[in-house]
Amino acid sequence: VNLKDMVVVITGASSGIGAEAARELAGAGAKLVLTARRGDRLQALADELPVQVAILAADIADPATPERLLALAIERFGRADAVVNNAGMLAIGAIEAIDFDEMTQVIRVNYEAVVRSSYVFARAFKAQGGGAIINVSSIGAYTNGPMIGVYSGTKHAVEGFTDALRIELAGTGVKVGSIAPGSTETEMLDTIRSKFGEGAAPSTPMLGPLDVAQAIRFMLEQSDRSNIARLLIYSAHETH
Ligand SMILES: NC(=O)c1ccc[n+]([C@@H]2O[C@H](COP(=O)([O-])OP(=O)(O)OC[C@H]3O[C@@H](n4cnc5c(N)ncnc54)[C@H](OP(=O)(O)O)[C@@H]3O)[C@@H](O)[C@H]2O)c1
Repeated sequence: VNLKDMVVVITGASSGIGAEAARELAGAGAKLVLTARRGDRLQALADELPVQVAILAADIADPATPERLLALAIERFGRADAVVNNAGMLAIGAIEAIDFDEMTQVIRVNYEAVVRSSYVFARAFKAQGGGAIINVSSIGAYTNGPMIGVYSGTKHAVEGFTDALRIELAGTGVKVGSIAPGSTETEMLDTIRSKFGEGAAPSTPMLGPLDVAQAIRFMLEQSDRSNIARLLIYSAHETH
């Protein structure tokens, strides 16, 4: 599929993988609807891109945000063709240090918001007979480790939910898939560094956000026959 003039909604577009996906898809000629809380970052990115961009500064955990994104896409571009549910947050800590409010927020952003957004766009895409939903999960959906259980749990959940939605929508023209990146050098890793020190983040070369962005583009460019249901992308140095 040629992405030129396709209308793609990207959540978590103010930094990291989401911002790089915006650049990559803009390079392919897509029109973009970008959202995150930091509106100044979104505006700077929009100013940089050579395509039409609509931005919405909003909290993705606000239940109204997905509907607002769809409405903005329709208002500005007349339709939406794809959504990349990428916004996410990381929280880590030993059981003694768990902050329950933070954990609830991780569940709301990483899972509840992905579910809500997927359903809102799935309804619109099904009604128009086509569209694509890509949910960004993590290797945390495939490997488990201490102190990161809630984050991993949300990503396991995203994978299961996404595949169930793929099956429900098979044959409708609406494609659904997930991408699970390995460790990627973004601001998210700063959460680990600030809590546990510089040495706590992976020391081997990590993926860059561009690697993941190119994989997202590849998923969206598949022909109408093909749906990449799950894509697992590691750094070439990653061992787990
Ligand atoms: N980095 C990795 O190693 C790695 C590995 C596997 C999977 N992932 C996944 O990749 C996705 C992108 O993460 P990243 O690595 O690119 O990290 P990042 O640079 O920290 O980006 C996270 C994005 O999510 C947005 N976001 C967070 N909470 C939000 C909220 N409540 N409302 C709206 N937007 C919110 C942030 O924007 P604002 O702060 O401006 O709202 C930001 O744009 C996440 O789903 C993450 O779990 C990352």
